[in-house]
Parts: sequence; C-alpha cells; structure tokens
Amino acid sequence: MAEKIILDRNLTIEAVRVTEAAAIAAAETMGRGDEKVADQAAVDAMRTALNRLHMAGTVVIGEGERDEAPMLFIGEEVGTGDGPKIDIALDPLEGTTITAKGMPNGLAVLALSEHGGLLNAPDVYMDKIAAGPMVPVDAIDLDNSAEENVNNVAAALGKDAKDVVACILDRPRHGELIAAVREAGARIVLIGDGDVAGVMATAMPETGIDIYMGTGGAPEGVLAAAALLCIGGNIQGRLLFRNDDERGRAAKVGVQDLNRKYAITDLASGDVIFAATGVTDGNMLQGVRRTARYLSTESVAMRARTGTVRWIRMQHPIVK
Ligand code: FBP
Repeated sequence: MAEKIILDRNLTIEAVRVTEAAAIAAAETMGRGDEKVADQAAVDAMRTALNRLHMAGTVVIGEGERDEAPMLFIGEEVGTGDGPKIDIALDPLEGTTITAKGMPNGLAVLALSEHGGLLNAPDVYMDKIAAGPMVPVDAIDLDNSAEENVNNVAAALGKDAKDVVACILDRPRHGELIAAVREAGARIVLIGDGDVAGVMATAMPETGIDIYMGTGGAPEGVLAAAALLCIGGNIQGRLLFRNDDERGRAAKVGVQDLNRKYAITDLASGDVIFAATGVTDGNMLQGVRRTARYLSTESVAMRARTGTVRWIRMQHPIVK
C-alpha cells in the first residue's frame, strides 16, 4: 500500500514564510533593550503568518499556558482549519535577550508534525546532551560522567579529547559541569542564550561544536530534537522540576514518569518539518538586513521524511 502522506511538501516552504515573518518583525526591535517588545513583535507576526496556512494546527509547544500567554499559547488552534491535523512547536523569538541586546544567534523557529509527532513538554527545564550524526546513539548519555561522554565523542570522531569542543549555556548552575568537561580535556564554547542553535551546531561540522551539554528549556529541547531528526544527530533529555508548580505543569500535559530519559524519537518523531530564520547574525544563519529597497533574510528548512535541507536567502521588497 502506498505510504500515506500527511504533510504536503509545500508546507516546508510555508514554514519558512512563517519564520521569515517572525524574524523580520523581531529584527525591527533588535538592540532596543526591550525583551518584551521583541518577543511580542515576533509572536504577532508568527501568529498572523500561521493563520494563513491551510491546516488545522494545534500549538503543542508555544509561548506558555493560556492564562500567561495571550497568543500562541499551548492548545491554541491556528491555521485556516480546513487542512490536515498538524501539531506545532514554535519559538517566535529564540533569544529574546540576545535580540534586545543586539547579540548573535537570535532565531525564529518552527516545527510542524503530523498529529502526535512532538512531545507535549511542560515549560520547565530539561537536562540535555546532544551530538552530531557521526557519533553513535549510545556514545552519549545523561547518566555518563562528563569524562565518559567527552571520550566517547572523541573516539567516534577520531579526535583526542583535547580537540573535542562542547557547547554549554553560560549559567552559574553549570559550574560543576563546566569544570568536569575541562577536567576531561575538552574545550568549551560558552553561549549566553539560544540552545536550539547550540544543539543544532553539533550536527554542522563547520561550526566546530562536537557536543552540547547542560540544562535549558524543555520546549527548546523539543524544537532542537525536531531539527536533529531532520539533519541527523542525537539528543537525549530529562525534565527537571524545581517545585510543585512545575510538577503540576507536567501532570497537566500528561507526563507521568518525572525521571524519564527521553530519546530523540520520544521528543520528535515521524514526518517532521523544521524551519528557522536568523534574526541576528549567527554561526548558522545571517540575521535580517535592511537595504533601501528590500529586507533580506536567511533561513533553513528541513524535512525528516526526506532528509532534505534547504538554505533559503530571500529578498523581501519594501513596499512604501
Ligand atoms: P528565550 O528566548 O525564551 O529567552 O530563551 C533563551 C534561552 O537561552 C533558551 O535557548 C534556553 O533553552 C533557555 O533560555 C535557558 O533558560 P535560562 O535563561 O533560564 O537559563
């Protein structure tokens, strides 16, 4: 029997239109020092663009719960409502602080899947470890020591441990991890924000990043898993709960085993489409640029079913 295709291939390009719109809106606020304004601009633009798509979309990873997020909240229905049933994970502005401060690696990010293809993760922290496609799945594990993970990645990539480069969010909570990774001989690229790009970098040899480690947002973990499912690579995640409120959020989205280690296919599976557009310049995508006549954007669009990766440079005429 022929394979049932749920996601139309043109949806890949439509997804880029959505991230382009969010990135252009967010870029207008770049460097203005106002995170809320930056995020709101991206959210408004992404929602408007999503609502043009022919689909019955449901936001499963969004801006938060309905009472705290007026738009693109978890459970919100988007799209024209007359197409296929699609689950959506989104971060209209991955790197609000980055953008407000005019720093690198701000992204607009979107993942689409057939119904049930993206974990409904609560908005809590997630402990993550990720590596690119050349590293066997069982070589990295959240329960390994930092030294074991570094050595396994070094062996898989045919390097010495001293040539392994880890990417870690620069946070006080990572003090012990950072010390252990350096003790194991590896070097570290510390990032201020934006771990979706940090995880994706492990699958792009030109970035020089071999392994991602540390704690970041769970929603960002699902988005990063969607990207790695398309381009290859592996991520493992475990939710972290700091209080009863966070445990309550997990219960609401049906998480039963609070200590579960999620494999990449628990986070994202099946026919997944991932798109990202640069807001500010980054090591993967250039940010939005303005000339007298047009705005230019750089995006990447990928699809898990086919493994295609499209790098898209667009000029958007400025209509006066
Ligand atoms: P926002 O754009 O939502 O601010 O997220 C940026 C980010 O750096 C994520 O990439 C990362 O997962 C998370 O914040 C880390 O959280 P925290 O800043 O609390 O350490």
